[in-house]
Amino acid sequence: MTAKEYKETVDAALEQYFHAESFPFAGLAESMRYSLLAGGKRIRPMLVLEFCRISGGDMKAALPVACAVEMLHTYSLIHDDLPCMDNDDLRRGRPTNHKVFGECTATLAGDCLQAEAFGTILSSALPPERKAACAGILAGAAGLDGICGGQYMDMVWEGRALRFEQLNDINNRKTSALLIAACQMGVAAAGGSGEMLDCAARYAAAVGLAFQIRDDMLDVLSTEQELGKPIGSDAQEQKNTFMALYGETKCAEMVRKLTEAAKTALKEGGFDDVSFLCDLADAMAVRRS
Ligand code: IPE
Ligand code: IPE
Ligand code: MG
Ligand code: MG
Ligand code: MG
Repeated sequence: MTAKEYKETVDAALEQYFHAESFPFAGLAESMRYSLLAGGKRIRPMLVLEFCRISGGDMKAALPVACAVEMLHTYSLIHDDLPCMDNDDLRRGRPTNHKVFGECTATLAGDCLQAEAFGTILSSALPPERKAACAGILAGAAGLDGICGGQYMDMVWEGRALRFEQLNDINNRKTSALLIAACQMGVAAAGGSGEMLDCAARYAAAVGLAFQIRDDMLDVLSTEQELGKPIGSDAQEQKNTFMALYGETKCAEMVRKLTEAAKTALKEGGFDDVSFLCDLADAMAVRRS
Protein backbone atom coordinates (compact mmCIF):
# COMPACT_ATOMS: atom_id res chain seq x y z
CA MET A 1 0.00 0.00 0.00
CA THR A 2 1.03 3.60 -0.51
CA ALA A 3 1.09 6.03 2.41
CA LYS A 4 -2.09 7.61 1.06
CA GLU A 5 -3.84 4.22 0.93
CA TYR A 6 -2.71 3.41 4.46
CA LYS A 7 -4.04 6.73 5.70
CA GLU A 8 -7.38 6.17 3.97
CA THR A 9 -7.63 2.66 5.43
CA VAL A 10 -6.91 3.94 8.93
CA ASP A 11 -9.26 6.92 8.61
CA ALA A 12 -12.08 4.63 7.47
CA ALA A 13 -11.43 2.21 10.35
CA LEU A 14 -11.30 4.99 12.96
CA GLU A 15 -14.60 6.36 11.68
CA GLN A 16 -16.29 3.20 13.03
CA TYR A 17 -15.53 3.99 16.67
CA PHE A 18 -17.45 5.89 19.36
CA HIS A 19 -20.60 6.80 17.50
CA ALA A 20 -22.43 9.00 19.95
CA GLU A 21 -25.76 7.20 19.62
CA SER A 22 -24.31 4.02 21.11
CA PHE A 23 -23.52 5.77 24.43
CA PRO A 24 -25.66 7.57 26.97
CA PHE A 25 -22.78 10.08 27.12
CA ALA A 26 -23.07 11.61 23.67
CA GLY A 27 -21.05 14.75 24.48
CA LEU A 28 -18.02 12.76 25.59
CA ALA A 29 -18.10 10.53 22.52
CA GLU A 30 -18.50 13.60 20.32
CA SER A 31 -15.43 15.18 21.86
CA MET A 32 -13.40 11.98 21.38
CA ARG A 33 -14.40 11.76 17.72
CA TYR A 34 -13.73 15.47 17.23
CA SER A 35 -10.02 14.99 17.91
CA LEU A 36 -9.65 11.44 16.63
CA LEU A 37 -11.15 12.24 13.23
CA ALA A 38 -9.61 15.69 12.85
CA GLY A 39 -6.99 14.38 10.48
CA GLY A 40 -3.41 13.84 11.50
CA LYS A 41 -0.73 12.13 9.50
CA ARG A 42 -1.54 8.65 10.93
CA ILE A 43 2.15 7.79 11.05
CA ARG A 44 1.90 5.46 14.03
CA PRO A 45 -0.92 3.30 12.58
CA MET A 46 0.98 3.19 9.30
CA LEU A 47 4.01 1.83 11.16
CA VAL A 48 1.88 -0.84 12.84
CA LEU A 49 0.45 -2.02 9.54
CA GLU A 50 3.66 -1.95 7.55
CA PHE A 51 5.71 -3.72 10.24
CA CYS A 52 2.96 -6.33 10.44
CA ARG A 53 3.13 -6.81 6.69
CA ILE A 54 6.91 -7.14 6.47
CA SER A 55 6.86 -9.53 9.45
CA GLY A 56 4.58 -11.84 7.47
CA GLY A 57 1.33 -10.98 9.27
CA ASP A 58 -2.22 -10.23 8.21
CA MET A 59 -2.61 -6.47 8.09
CA LYS A 60 -6.38 -6.67 8.36
CA ALA A 61 -6.10 -8.48 11.68
CA ALA A 62 -3.73 -5.75 12.90
CA LEU A 63 -6.06 -2.89 11.96
CA PRO A 64 -7.58 -2.59 15.47
CA VAL A 65 -4.03 -2.32 16.86
CA ALA A 66 -3.32 0.46 14.35
CA CYS A 67 -6.50 2.25 15.47
CA ALA A 68 -5.54 1.76 19.11
CA VAL A 69 -2.17 3.47 18.76
CA GLU A 70 -3.88 6.43 17.11
CA MET A 71 -6.42 6.60 19.96
CA LEU A 72 -3.62 6.67 22.49
CA HIS A 73 -1.69 9.25 20.48
CA THR A 74 -4.79 11.43 20.17
CA TYR A 75 -5.33 11.26 23.93
CA SER A 76 -1.74 12.44 24.42
CA LEU A 77 -2.32 15.39 22.08
CA ILE A 78 -5.58 16.44 23.79
CA HIS A 79 -3.86 16.44 27.17
CA ASP A 80 -0.67 18.03 25.78
CA ASP A 81 -2.72 21.03 24.62
CA LEU A 82 -4.53 21.62 27.92
CA PRO A 83 -3.99 24.98 29.67
CA CYS A 84 -2.12 23.20 32.49
CA MET A 85 0.29 21.70 29.95
CA ASP A 86 1.26 23.43 26.67
CA ASN A 87 -1.80 25.69 26.65
CA ASP A 88 -2.40 25.60 22.90
CA ASP A 89 -5.49 26.65 20.98
CA LEU A 90 -5.00 24.92 17.65
CA ARG A 91 -4.45 21.26 16.76
CA ARG A 92 -4.76 19.46 13.44
CA GLY A 93 -6.03 22.69 11.93
CA ARG A 94 -8.91 23.03 14.38
CA PRO A 95 -9.50 24.64 17.78
CA THR A 96 -8.12 22.31 20.45
CA ASN A 97 -10.48 19.94 22.21
CA HIS A 98 -10.74 21.99 25.42
CA LYS A 99 -11.50 25.15 23.44
CA VAL A 100 -14.57 23.46 21.98
CA PHE A 101 -15.72 21.13 24.76
CA GLY A 102 -14.18 22.65 27.89
CA GLU A 103 -11.30 21.41 30.02
CA CYS A 104 -13.27 18.85 31.97
CA THR A 105 -14.65 17.06 28.91
CA ALA A 106 -11.30 17.30 27.12
CA THR A 107 -9.56 15.68 30.08
CA LEU A 108 -12.13 12.89 30.14
CA ALA A 109 -11.99 12.45 26.37
CA GLY A 110 -8.25 11.85 26.72
CA ASP A 111 -8.71 9.45 29.62
CA CYS A 112 -11.39 7.60 27.72
CA LEU A 113 -9.35 7.33 24.50
CA GLN A 114 -6.49 5.85 26.47
CA ALA A 115 -8.68 3.19 28.07
CA GLU A 116 -10.47 2.46 24.80
CA ALA A 117 -7.10 1.98 23.08
CA PHE A 118 -6.33 -0.99 25.31
CA GLY A 119 -9.88 -2.27 24.98
CA THR A 120 -9.63 -2.10 21.21
CA ILE A 121 -6.50 -4.26 21.20
CA LEU A 122 -7.87 -6.73 23.70
CA SER A 123 -11.17 -7.19 21.88
CA SER A 124 -9.53 -7.68 18.48
CA ALA A 125 -9.55 -11.03 16.71
CA LEU A 126 -5.79 -11.54 17.09
CA PRO A 127 -4.61 -14.69 18.90
CA PRO A 128 -4.63 -14.11 22.69
CA GLU A 129 -0.84 -14.17 23.10
CA ARG A 130 -0.39 -11.58 20.33
CA LYS A 131 -3.04 -9.28 21.81
CA ALA A 132 -1.40 -9.55 25.20
CA ALA A 133 1.99 -8.74 23.69
CA CYS A 134 0.59 -5.67 21.91
CA ALA A 135 -1.21 -4.41 25.02
CA GLY A 136 1.96 -4.82 27.07
CA ILE A 137 4.04 -2.93 24.52
CA LEU A 138 1.51 -0.09 24.42
CA ALA A 139 1.32 0.11 28.21
CA GLY A 140 5.11 0.49 28.37
CA ALA A 141 4.99 3.38 25.92
CA ALA A 142 2.19 5.14 27.79
CA GLY A 143 3.43 4.98 31.39
CA LEU A 144 6.44 6.14 33.39
CA ASP A 145 8.97 5.10 30.77
CA GLY A 146 6.76 6.51 28.05
CA ILE A 147 4.47 9.45 27.41
CA CYS A 148 3.47 10.25 30.99
CA GLY A 149 7.02 10.14 32.27
CA GLY A 150 8.26 12.21 29.34
CA GLN A 151 5.50 14.78 29.61
CA TYR A 152 6.24 15.12 33.32
CA MET A 153 9.93 15.76 32.68
CA ASP A 154 9.06 18.14 29.84
CA MET A 155 6.99 20.13 32.34
CA VAL A 156 9.22 20.13 35.42
CA TRP A 157 12.32 21.03 33.42
CA GLU A 158 10.66 23.97 31.64
CA GLY A 159 12.86 27.06 31.78
CA ARG A 160 15.98 25.12 32.86
CA ALA A 161 19.08 24.72 30.71
CA LEU A 162 19.38 21.06 29.80
CA ARG A 163 22.16 18.96 28.32
CA PHE A 164 21.58 16.81 25.25
CA GLU A 165 21.26 13.66 27.38
CA GLN A 166 18.44 15.16 29.42
CA LEU A 167 16.59 16.46 26.38
CA ASN A 168 17.05 13.10 24.72
CA ASP A 169 15.72 11.37 27.82
CA ILE A 170 12.54 13.48 27.66
CA ASN A 171 12.17 12.80 23.96
CA ASN A 172 12.71 9.05 24.30
CA ARG A 173 9.76 8.90 26.62
CA LYS A 174 7.35 11.50 25.30
CA THR A 175 7.77 10.82 21.56
CA SER A 176 10.03 7.91 20.61
CA ALA A 177 8.42 5.41 22.98
CA LEU A 178 5.10 5.45 21.12
CA LEU A 179 6.77 5.27 17.71
CA ILE A 180 8.82 2.30 18.91
CA ALA A 181 5.67 0.70 20.32
CA ALA A 182 3.84 1.18 17.01
CA CYS A 183 6.60 -0.61 15.10
CA GLN A 184 6.91 -3.38 17.69
CA MET A 185 3.16 -3.92 17.88
CA GLY A 186 3.15 -4.47 14.14
CA VAL A 187 5.78 -7.19 14.57
CA ALA A 188 3.98 -8.65 17.60
CA ALA A 189 0.62 -8.71 15.78
CA ALA A 190 2.31 -10.82 13.13
CA GLY A 191 3.96 -13.11 15.69
CA GLY A 192 7.40 -11.92 14.51
CA SER A 193 10.73 -12.90 16.07
CA GLY A 194 12.71 -11.22 18.83
CA GLU A 195 15.24 -10.18 16.21
CA MET A 196 12.48 -8.41 14.28
CA LEU A 197 11.30 -6.68 17.46
CA ASP A 198 14.85 -5.44 18.11
CA CYS A 199 15.22 -4.17 14.59
CA ALA A 200 11.87 -2.37 14.77
CA ALA A 201 13.00 -0.68 17.98
CA ARG A 202 16.31 0.48 16.50
CA TYR A 203 14.59 1.95 13.43
CA ALA A 204 11.92 3.69 15.49
CA ALA A 205 14.35 5.06 18.08
CA ALA A 206 16.28 6.86 15.35
CA VAL A 207 13.13 7.96 13.54
CA GLY A 208 11.64 9.06 16.88
CA LEU A 209 14.49 11.39 17.76
CA ALA A 210 14.51 12.80 14.24
CA PHE A 211 10.74 13.24 14.50
CA GLN A 212 10.88 15.40 17.64
CA ILE A 213 13.83 17.43 16.35
CA ARG A 214 11.82 18.13 13.19
CA ASP A 215 8.76 18.96 15.33
CA ASP A 216 10.83 21.47 17.32
CA MET A 217 12.15 22.98 14.07
CA LEU A 218 8.66 23.36 12.63
CA ASP A 219 7.47 25.13 15.79
CA VAL A 220 9.90 27.90 14.80
CA LEU A 221 10.10 27.65 11.01
CA SER A 222 6.64 26.66 9.79
CA THR A 223 3.40 28.58 9.57
CA GLU A 224 0.29 27.99 11.60
CA GLN A 225 -1.67 27.29 8.44
CA GLU A 226 0.76 24.68 7.15
CA LEU A 227 1.35 23.01 10.51
CA GLY A 228 -2.22 23.10 11.82
CA LYS A 229 -0.92 24.00 15.28
CA PRO A 230 0.47 27.22 16.78
CA ILE A 231 3.93 28.49 15.92
CA GLY A 232 6.21 29.72 18.71
CA SER A 233 4.39 27.72 21.36
CA ASP A 234 7.63 26.19 22.66
CA ALA A 235 9.37 29.52 23.25
CA GLN A 236 6.27 30.93 24.87
CA GLU A 237 6.14 28.00 27.30
CA GLN A 238 9.93 28.14 27.87
CA LYS A 239 10.29 24.60 26.60
CA ASN A 240 13.59 22.90 26.21
CA THR A 241 13.81 22.05 22.53
CA PHE A 242 16.47 20.78 20.16
CA MET A 243 15.97 23.94 18.15
CA ALA A 244 16.74 26.18 21.14
CA LEU A 245 19.77 24.08 22.08
CA TYR A 246 21.32 23.59 18.64
CA GLY A 247 19.75 25.92 16.06
CA GLU A 248 18.43 25.14 12.61
CA THR A 249 21.58 24.01 10.79
CA LYS A 250 22.67 21.53 13.44
CA CYS A 251 19.13 20.23 13.88
CA ALA A 252 18.77 19.63 10.13
CA GLU A 253 22.06 17.74 10.15
CA MET A 254 20.98 15.61 13.11
CA VAL A 255 17.70 14.75 11.39
CA ARG A 256 19.56 13.74 8.24
CA LYS A 257 22.03 11.51 10.11
CA LEU A 258 19.33 9.89 12.24
CA THR A 259 17.25 9.15 9.15
CA GLU A 260 20.22 7.39 7.55
CA ALA A 261 20.81 5.47 10.79
CA ALA A 262 17.15 4.40 10.85
CA LYS A 263 17.34 3.09 7.30
CA THR A 264 20.60 1.26 7.99
CA ALA A 265 19.11 -0.40 11.08
CA LEU A 266 16.21 -1.59 8.98
CA LYS A 267 18.33 -2.96 6.19
CA GLU A 268 20.39 -4.95 8.70
CA GLY A 269 17.28 -6.40 10.35
CA GLY A 270 16.51 -9.36 8.13
CA PHE A 271 13.24 -8.05 6.70
CA ASP A 272 12.56 -8.65 3.01
CA ASP A 273 11.06 -5.44 1.75
CA VAL A 274 11.87 -2.26 3.65
CA SER A 275 11.41 0.26 0.85
CA PHE A 276 8.16 1.73 2.23
CA LEU A 277 9.69 2.29 5.66
CA CYS A 278 12.84 3.84 4.18
CA ASP A 279 10.72 6.20 2.11
CA LEU A 280 8.60 7.04 5.15
CA ALA A 281 11.70 7.92 7.18
CA ASP A 282 12.87 10.17 4.34
CA ALA A 283 9.46 11.84 4.08
CA MET A 284 9.30 12.47 7.82
CA ALA A 285 12.73 14.08 7.77
CA VAL A 286 11.56 16.82 5.43
CA ARG A 287 7.93 17.02 6.46
CA ARG A 288 6.30 20.44 6.57
CA SER A 289 3.44 19.49 8.88
C1 IPE B 1 2.73 15.38 17.21
O1 IPE B 1 2.64 14.17 16.53
C2 IPE B 1 3.26 15.18 18.58
C3 IPE B 1 4.67 14.80 18.64
C4 IPE B 1 5.03 13.66 19.11
C5 IPE B 1 5.70 15.70 18.20
P1 IPE B 1 2.32 14.13 14.97
O2 IPE B 1 3.16 15.13 14.25
O3 IPE B 1 2.38 12.72 14.51
O4 IPE B 1 0.81 14.67 14.94
P2 IPE B 1 -0.42 14.27 14.01
O5 IPE B 1 -0.88 12.95 14.49
O6 IPE B 1 0.03 14.23 12.59
O7 IPE B 1 -1.44 15.36 14.28
C1 IPE C 1 4.65 16.12 21.95
O1 IPE C 1 5.48 17.17 22.19
C2 IPE C 1 4.54 15.17 23.07
C3 IPE C 1 3.28 14.45 23.17
C4 IPE C 1 2.15 14.76 22.61
C5 IPE C 1 3.25 13.29 24.02
P1 IPE C 1 5.01 18.62 21.74
O2 IPE C 1 4.32 19.33 22.84
O3 IPE C 1 6.16 19.30 21.08
O4 IPE C 1 3.92 18.27 20.60
P2 IPE C 1 3.14 19.35 19.77
O5 IPE C 1 4.16 20.24 19.09
O6 IPE C 1 2.25 20.09 20.72
O7 IPE C 1 2.38 18.51 18.77
MG1 MG D 1 4.24 19.28 24.87
MG1 MG E 1 2.55 20.63 22.62
MG1 MG F 1 6.07 20.51 19.39
